[in-house]
Amino acid sequence: MPKRVLVTGGAGFIGSHLVERLLHDGHEVSVLDNFSTGCIENLSHLSGHARLHIEEGDVTDSRLLAELLQSIDWVFHLAALADIVPSVTKPLDYYRANVTGTATIVEAARQNRVQRFVYAASSSCYGIPSIYPTPETADIRPHYPYALTKYLGEQLVMHWAQVYGLPAVSLRLFNVFGPRARTTGSYGAVFGVFLAQKLAGQPFTIVGDGTQTRDFTFVTDVVEASSRQRCRRSRKKFSMWDRGTRTASISLSDCSVARSPIFPSAQASLVVPLRILRRSGVCWDGRQPSRSRKESV
Ligand SMILES: NC(=O)c1ccc[n+]([C@@H]2O[C@H](COP(=O)([O-])OP(=O)(O)OC[C@H]3O[C@@H](n4cnc5c(N)ncnc54)[C@H](O)[C@@H]3O)[C@@H](O)[C@H]2O)c1
Repeated sequence: MPKRVLVTGGAGFIGSHLVERLLHDGHEVSVLDNFSTGCIENLSHLSGHARLHIEEGDVTDSRLLAELLQSIDWVFHLAALADIVPSVTKPLDYYRANVTGTATIVEAARQNRVQRFVYAASSSCYGIPSIYPTPETADIRPHYPYALTKYLGEQLVMHWAQVYGLPAVSLRLFNVFGPRARTTGSYGAVFGVFLAQKLAGQPFTIVGDGTQTRDFTFVTDVVEASSRQRCRRSRKKFSMWDRGTRTASISLSDCSVARSPIFPSAQASLVVPLRILRRSGVCWDGRQPSRSRKESV
């Protein structure tokens, strides 16, 4: 049945893909975004859509949220300051957007009895973990303000679920990549930075010796997982899933990716998803990635 859905941060990288998917599924979608890092161009292919409503505003604006949420069934809360490096120099900006913003919207969601609240959490809460693939039970060790504020946001969401029965789910996303990923110079994620350098005809920047590894998740898999959460009735009041990947370290120079036209001569070492989902939490089933590694890249 079509629902009235609010996507905060809907003009951002992941949010714009989620909006597209929700519209495709027949829902009425409202976007709340202050366009601090997102942009209207991310939604330009959907402009004029009869079921899309775009509101420019801030998630810390409690009056605006009280008004918006009166007619909302589901909330996907993605709005956040999401670049890691600037969080070190501007921790209070990150606290305001990611912690105060989350507190404001969970309270508005509670007041308005939303039926489902999905929070985009971050695997950065694990810091540099000692176990790979990293289980949800791994120690929480935020290493910089972005990681800390995203984790505090998750704690708020889970607390509202526990104390007030807010039907909430928190997804700890691992490095997401795909079309419309931010490419903000040295602050961007590796795929975005490489792509921007490739398009500019510049050499790729590799920090360190290039043997470092990361988990990557293609954006449409994140959207698939997020959109499924809204449909599920958890057996528990709240559950948390990680969206991790079983991974292997592959040098770009000797894997098929290296021969693709995108990365013809890179020397970096990347981790790529071989199997996408490790089940954990209450009701997620093991799934394959929607596309092959080569297709995603
Ligand atoms: N991209 C990843 O690899 C990744 C990994 C883990 C978690 N996440 C989380 O997923 C979410 C989306 O990330 P993204 O990569 O699409 O980032 P993004 O920067 O592209 O999107 C974030 C959006 O939120 C908006 N925004 C920021 N502060 C706001 C505020 N105070 N009020 C209203 N809107 C505001 C921005 O304008 C932007 O459109 C974030 O919460 C991020 O922490 C992303």
